[in-house]
Amino acid sequence: MAAPTTTIWDLEPHTRVKHEILKRYLQAWIPILGQGPSEELVYIDGFAGPGRYSKGEDGSPVLALKAALEQQGQIKPNMVFIFVELRSNRADMLRLVLDEIELPSRFSVNVAGGQTFEEAVTNFVDSRTRGARRLPPTFAFIDPFGWTGVPFDLVSRIMSFPRCEVLVTFMYEEINRFIGLPDQISNFTSFFGTDEWQQVIALEDPRQRNRQLHDLYLHQLRNRARAKYVRSFEMRNDRDVTDYYLFYATNNLLGLKRMKEAMWKVDRSGEFRFSDATDPRQMVLFGDEPQFDILREQLVKRFANQETTIGKIEEFVVSETAFRETHYKTRILRPMELTVPQRLVPINPPPNRKPGTYPKPELRVRFI
Ligand SMILES: C[S@@+](CC[C@H](N)C(=O)[O-])C[C@H]1O[C@@H](n2cnc3c(N)ncnc32)[C@H](O)[C@@H]1O
Repeated sequence: MAAPTTTIWDLEPHTRVKHEILKRYLQAWIPILGQGPSEELVYIDGFAGPGRYSKGEDGSPVLALKAALEQQGQIKPNMVFIFVELRSNRADMLRLVLDEIELPSRFSVNVAGGQTFEEAVTNFVDSRTRGARRLPPTFAFIDPFGWTGVPFDLVSRIMSFPRCEVLVTFMYEEINRFIGLPDQISNFTSFFGTDEWQQVIALEDPRQRNRQLHDLYLHQLRNRARAKYVRSFEMRNDRDVTDYYLFYATNNLLGLKRMKEAMWKVDRSGEFRFSDATDPRQMVLFGDEPQFDILREQLVKRFANQETTIGKIEEFVVSETAFRETHYKTRILRPMELTVPQRLVPINPPPNRKPGTYPKPELRVRFI
């Protein structure tokens, strides 16, 4: 899709899905961090848009504000919203849309209109971190039309502070289409934070190109931005080709649990399909029924002939697979323990434990 030039535009089905994920995640993220010790929570929408689509649907800034308003009772800190929109006409529209929403005095909303994500967010981070201060817990939604104006150094800088995380729309289709253009070399190097993307240009196999571009960004988030947990989600269109990826990077396992919950619960009735893209050998489609055989295979491969704890299994499921913390106990561990031949043996079960239940993270088990 070419980037629209008008002030507002039609809401595409793939954007609707992205919005649903964002909304569900924020409904969970805000109360979790809202109960923490920080005096402020920051929400950045780095590519905010006009706040409304052509048929009156909410844009991402409005969705975020509404999610926070719904959770008001659970938020102790002040909430700071920073909406960056380069185009003045869209920023003006956004201000009008936001004026219609009544906000409590603990919410401050700043529309950085006519500024780039890079300028506005660099200034904000500089101002908040002067004198060795840390950035308050921050969620940055980075949702460009393409690849320009999203310097990896800035993504990395946000991730360097505790309890800060990013959700980046990686516009695969556009990136793949324009990656060979000579006048885009410095933009792509800035976007990836390395010039290694140039190795992809010579690749002719579309699947290989796709994978390498995806893996390079994933690698950069893990290794350069040093995010502890990174997962990617692929949005495929009705021709079953990748439209975009969402990359979520966090240092917080609970955040990752909530993001996966949002992904698994998103309405799948539309024309777009979502899959976990982080592990290319194990693409897991978010269909109606989780593909438990894949999870079982992954668990057996990881823990075969080893003794471990339920807590470690859970961390593995959440951080290294597409699945959720709700997926592995009754559908995988229980049958492994209770059916013959037994494949899972509890090592230190408390005397009153019911076989096939795993309530305590410290319970030790052995995979046979
Ligand atoms: C994909 S749209 C955003 C949609 C919005 N996040 C939503 O979900 O409703 C990208 C927006 O970023 C704006 N934009 C383009 N380059 C920018 C930059 N360097 N910094 C900030 N905004 C930019 C565009 O004008 C456009 O409105």
